[in-house]
Amino acid sequence: MKDKPSLPIYNSHSSLPQSEMSVSSASVNEQSARNVYIETYGCQMNVSDSELMAGILTQSGHQTVSNIDDADVILLNTCAIRENAETKVINRLEHLNHRKRREGNLIIGVCGCMAQHLRDKLLKAAPYVDLVMGPDAYRNLPMALNAVASGDPFLGLQLDKSEDYADIAPIRKEGIRAWLTIQRGCDKMCTFCIVPFVRGRERSIPLKNLTDDVKRLVDEGFKEIVLLGQTVNSYHDGSHDFGELLWSIAEVEGVERVRFTSPHPADATDSMIDAMENCPQVCKQLHLPLQSGSTPVLERMRRTYTAEEYRELVLKLRERIPQIALSTDIIVGFCGETEQDFMQTYQLMADIRFDSAFMFKYSDREGTLANKSLEDDVPETEKARRLNEIIALQENISADINQATVGTTASVLVEGDSRRDAEQYHGKTDTFKTTVFPKEDAQVGDIVNVKIHSATTHTLIGEIAG
Ligand code: 5AD
Repeated sequence: MKDKPSLPIYNSHSSLPQSEMSVSSASVNEQSARNVYIETYGCQMNVSDSELMAGILTQSGHQTVSNIDDADVILLNTCAIRENAETKVINRLEHLNHRKRREGNLIIGVCGCMAQHLRDKLLKAAPYVDLVMGPDAYRNLPMALNAVASGDPFLGLQLDKSEDYADIAPIRKEGIRAWLTIQRGCDKMCTFCIVPFVRGRERSIPLKNLTDDVKRLVDEGFKEIVLLGQTVNSYHDGSHDFGELLWSIAEVEGVERVRFTSPHPADATDSMIDAMENCPQVCKQLHLPLQSGSTPVLERMRRTYTAEEYRELVLKLRERIPQIALSTDIIVGFCGETEQDFMQTYQLMADIRFDSAFMFKYSDREGTLANKSLEDDVPETEKARRLNEIIALQENISADINQATVGTTASVLVEGDSRRDAEQYHGKTDTFKTTVFPKEDAQVGDIVNVKIHSATTHTLIGEIAG
C-alpha cells in the first residue's frame, strides 16, 4: 500500500477565531450540499454523538440520509474499547472501498474513538479514507467536507477540554427514549481503558442547558430520558451535582422516566441514592460496572474501590431501594489475574446476583496505562474459559430472577411493535426488562400495567392487566 504524504492537522474550534466558532464556518450551496450516511458503532455515547454530527451537518446545509445507497459521504462513527471493535471497522472500510472504486467520488470518513486512537496510522492502513475525525472535532465536519472535496484528506484530532457541544441541537429519530449527553470525557484513568485518551478530560454540560433540552424533548414526544456520561454520576457543572441534576430533569413537566448510564461505583453518593429512592420518575435500575471481584485486580485496574466496598454499596442500594435492578460490566483475564482472583469474581457475581451483565475478555489497548506497565499474561484460551464460566453463571441467575417476576404486575412503557409479532408490543419495565404483550388498545408511549405470565432469560411475557 502506498503511504499518503503527511497531512495537516487542523485544530478544533477553540483555536479558530471567535467568528468561526459556530458550525457553519463552511458555506454550502446547493451543489456542494452532501447526502451523508452515518453508521454508528459502539456505545450509546456514540449513538448520541452521531445525532450531534447529524445536527452539525444539517445546520450547515448538508443532509443525512437513512439509505446508504443514497449517500455521497459515508461516516463511520467508531469505537476503540476492544480490539475487535476496531477490526470490525477495518473490514467494513475494505468493503466500502469497493464501492468507492466503482463510484470514484464517494467520500469515506472515520470518526469517533477509533479515529482518535489510530490517528494518521488509519490512513496508512486504509489510504482511501478521506477524513479522520476525533470526538472533539465534529464542529469542523462541514469544513472537512469542503476540504476533502477539493482533494485534500482531513485529519481533525485535537482534543479540546472546552468542547461540550452544548449549543448544538442534535437530530434524533422520533421516538420514546432520548439519549442526552450530560458529560463528555473521563478523568478516572482505569488502567485497562482507552476512553480518557480518545475522549479527553471530563467536562459537564450546565444544568440549565440540560433542563432546556429536556423541555424540548418532551415537546417532541419523548417520554424517557437517559442521561449519558462516561462516569455519569461524577457530573458537576460547578454549581450542581448529579443528584440535583436527576431531580431537575425529573421535575420537567411531562418527563415520565429518567435513567442514566454508566455510573462509577466510587461516585455513588448519597445525593444520587436519595434521588433514586425518592424521585418517582427516576427508574429503580442501576448499571454499576464492577469489572472484577478481586481487590488486588481492582487495584491494578485503578478502580479506586475494593471488592468489599462494592459489596457494601450494593447492600446499601438494596436496603434503600429494595426493588432496584442491578446490572454490571465484568472483565476477565486482566493482567496478572490468577485462578483465585477469577474465582472471587465468580463468587461475587453469585452472591450479588445481578439482573444482567456485560462480560468481556481483557483486550490490551495500545496507549493505556496497563499496556505501558502491566503484562497481558493470561492466555487467550484461559480468558475464553473464564468468560464462558461467568456467562453460564449469569444466564442462570438472569433466568431465575426473571422467572420470579411471573405472577407480578409491572409498569411498562410501550415502545413499539414486537419484532416477532406485529400483534404484540414491546416495552421496558421500570427495571429495564424487555416485556412483550398483546397490544389491546394501548398506544406507543403509554405506560401500562402488564401482568407477567412467563419469562425467558432476557424477556418477560405477559398481558395488560385490566
Ligand atoms: N478490554 C476489555 N473490556 C474493556 N472494557 C473497557 N476497556 C476494556 C478492555 N481494554 C469494558 C469495561 C467497561 C465496558 C464499557 O467495556 O467493562 O465498563
